[in-house]
Amino acid sequence: MRLFFIFLLCCINGVYNWRIFHNGRMVGGNLGNPKGEYIRNIRNYERWFTQSLDHFNPVDERTWQQRYFVNQDFIDTKNRNVAFLMIGGEGEATAEWMTKGAWIDYAKKYQAMCFQLEHRYYGKSHPTEDLSTENLQYLSSQQALADIATFVESMNEVYELSENVKWIAFGGSYPGSLAAWLRQKISTFEYFKVVNDDLRSHSDECLTAVKQGSAQAEILLRHMVGQRTLNKIFRLCDPVETVVDNPLDISNLFETLAGNFAGVAQYNKDNRIGKSSKGANITIDVLCDIMTNQTIGPQVRRLAAVNDLLLNSFEEKCLDYKYDSMINAMRNVSWESEVSEGGRQWTYQTCSEFGFFQTSTYKPQVFGDKFPIDFFVQQCMDIFGTNFNMTFLNKAIERTNTLYGALDIEVSNVVFVHGTVDPWHALGITKTMNQGAPAIYIKGTAHCANMYPESDKDLPQLKAARVEIQQLIGSWLDL
Ligand SMILES: *[C@@H]1O[C@H](CO)[C@@H](O)[C@H](O)[C@H]1NC(C)=O
Ligand SMILES: *[C@@H]1O[C@H](CO)[C@@H](O)[C@H](O)[C@H]1NC(C)=O
Ligand SMILES: *[C@@H]1O[C@H](CO)[C@@H](O)[C@H](O)[C@H]1NC(C)=O
Ligand SMILES: *[C@@H]1O[C@H](CO)[C@@H](O)[C@H](O)[C@H]1NC(C)=O
Repeated sequence: MRLFFIFLLCCINGVYNWRIFHNGRMVGGNLGNPKGEYIRNIRNYERWFTQSLDHFNPVDERTWQQRYFVNQDFIDTKNRNVAFLMIGGEGEATAEWMTKGAWIDYAKKYQAMCFQLEHRYYGKSHPTEDLSTENLQYLSSQQALADIATFVESMNEVYELSENVKWIAFGGSYPGSLAAWLRQKISTFEYFKVVNDDLRSHSDECLTAVKQGSAQAEILLRHMVGQRTLNKIFRLCDPVETVVDNPLDISNLFETLAGNFAGVAQYNKDNRIGKSSKGANITIDVLCDIMTNQTIGPQVRRLAAVNDLLLNSFEEKCLDYKYDSMINAMRNVSWESEVSEGGRQWTYQTCSEFGFFQTSTYKPQVFGDKFPIDFFVQQCMDIFGTNFNMTFLNKAIERTNTLYGALDIEVSNVVFVHGTVDPWHALGITKTMNQGAPAIYIKGTAHCANMYPESDKDLPQLKAARVEIQQLIGSWLDL
């Protein structure tokens, strides 16, 4: 049995408006749902699998139920020798993907059995009774990778797959990506650089307007009249004059405004639709058209117009930028809480494994310099406890680098797919490193765009990438 991977550096998330893009991921799942009719009866595809809680402690025999989906419609019933696995990332797995998406087209072509495994601690896969910091110790990319290995072994038996079955894994999400991307060392200063480049790809005028707008907002912050103006035009839930002495609130405010652009850049021009598709038609072009529209007024007013557009489309009454309200929400350990949709879990992984904080330390600055790295370390400590300090984080990142750096040498049968607009491409491999691990770099698309079903509006290079991936799968399967 061989396992092949299609790694997509796509579902990794950045910094966003925490209510809209939820500090690390989009509310309702990062990938969104594919276009088309939705499945009415999820039970046709939904299954549960008994999984170990701790793969690295043999004496710990505790187990839990991990959710997966299976679609057996396309399998070659005689040979049973091709299996596709969609690896769940930091969001809920959805049945919609079992009948839609580019991978289903590949499955039809290559007669594959299709599985989707939900990532532990996300969606309905709850290994522990709540999300307390103590219980979150079992949330790590290594445990998730071990989940996948155990799952694949077990499915071979449960579904009586051939001894020569070839598995092709899609998505990969962050665990897969890590292998490739950690070689570059975790450094995320590049993230906002790509956001810059995206804005510039519309026009220099757009980039300049964002920069000037941020600078104007900083100036307004310095006096009473300006503060009142900010309250009004940015629809702040709490008056900014009450928090000017609290650097955490100010950092959070500026991070949120920058996040408006980062979030949109990350999801630019994919074919999302459905529950998580709010704002799906808001692209960098839409934002830049506002930023360069002089009729709206000075640049800071245009920034406010962008903010308005996002608040309206995500149905938020006002901009909640208060640091404490974010931290309080993030501290909720209940599976019923809003942050259990992934915000808390993803933040935990960020604080304990990855550390990719999209800081504003990148120069030259478009978004001001109000949210440095310390701001993010402070969040880790305030949410998970004072142990999660800078020393801890540095050690954790070093450990992750070592683990995946070693794994990376073995990487083959992998395709790396990126969109140039996705800020995360800065961290990924965008040039072919070797024959076994080619890279496909799709100009003008955002994260994950190639995973969505085709649309007439797709850029030609996106269509070409889908074909290229299909051929690659064919070559791996020897078909
Ligand atoms: C996006 O779609 C919504 C609802 O379909 C519509 O009301 C809105 O005007 C659209 N926005 C843009 C920027 O096209
Ligand atoms: C510029 O903004 C004004 C006022 O909101 C609007 O009426 C106009 O259509 C916009 N122009 C462009 C080119 O988008
Ligand atoms: C956590 O969230 C749940 C569900 O929204 C809520 O009922 C509960 O009061 C919250 N707990 C705390 C401590 O805020
Ligand atoms: C972090 O906490 C540890 C103990 O928990 C302590 O030894 C270390 O000095 C702290 N580091 C920083 C940067 O405060």
